[in-house]
Parts: sequence; structure tokens; C-alpha cells
Amino acid sequence: MKILVIHGPNLNMLGRREPEVYGSVTLDEINAALQERAAVSGVTLLTMQSNHEGALIDFLQAEGWDADGIIINPGALTHYGLALRDALAMLKAPIIEVHLSNVYRREPFRHTSVVAPVATGQIAGLGWRGYLFALEWLSGVRG
Ligand code: DQA
Repeated sequence: MKILVIHGPNLNMLGRREPEVYGSVTLDEINAALQERAAVSGVTLLTMQSNHEGALIDFLQAEGWDADGIIINPGALTHYGLALRDALAMLKAPIIEVHLSNVYRREPFRHTSVVAPVATGQIAGLGWRGYLFALEWLSGVRG
């Protein structure tokens, strides 16, 4: 089973970036926790982060076709990244959109997700553990 974990713009700054909103755990720590959990279930996990929408799309086009699940925090692209949304829409794998913060209790522009309509589900507001819950769910989905 192959699962992609994709982190969008500014998420490489986790730990330093507005810790009161996003927590103090770094992206490397999140990826390490996910890899540890994936190894237990025999899941192959590919993680990537980019600040560039095109790079996220290139990765999805290269690795998405045979993926069994996709976990994505698109960062601010969540709210306007239509090309990223289209890249996700063409894939068959279940997609879980993850947000560290509860975007619905923040600024109004964060209340709209252009990704949500092509996602299977969404986890928001549960901090870095949201990624683990997404992995847990995807690991249980087969066929
Ligand atoms: C975020 C929420 C987005 O609105 C924001 O632009 C981010 C992070 C989150 O994880 O809470 O970069 O996706």
C-alpha cells in the first residue's frame, strides 16, 4: 500500500510559524511520526513539501496514479489553488485534506476550500495528530 503525504506552502516552517496557531511540532517530526506508524502497518509512505503549486502538481502527476491514498495539507492553496484541485480530481485514490488549525473558526477567507469537493474527507483543528488520524483511516481502506 502506497500513501502520499503532501504539505503545501509555508508548512516547512512548522515549529517556528505562529506556534500559537499551528503548534510547536516541526514538519520533520510530523513526517517521522507518520513514517513510524506507516512502518507498523507495512505502508509505503512518500512525503513531500513545496512552497510551489506546480511542484505539488508535478509530484501528484508522478506518484498519484498508483497511490492508494493521499493526505494533503495544501496550506493557503486550500482556498484558491484550482490547478492543485484539478490535479487531485483526476486521481482515483481517496484523499484526506488535513489542516492543523480549525480553519472554520478563523478568518472568513479560510472557510472556503476548493480542495474539499474533490476530497473524501477533511480533518481540521486537531493539530499534527490530524495527519496520524488520516493515515489510520486510509490504512484501513482497501479496495
Ligand atoms: C492550514 C490553514 C490554512 O488556512 C493556512 O493557509 C495554512 C495552514 C492549517 O494547517 O491549518 O498554511 O492549512
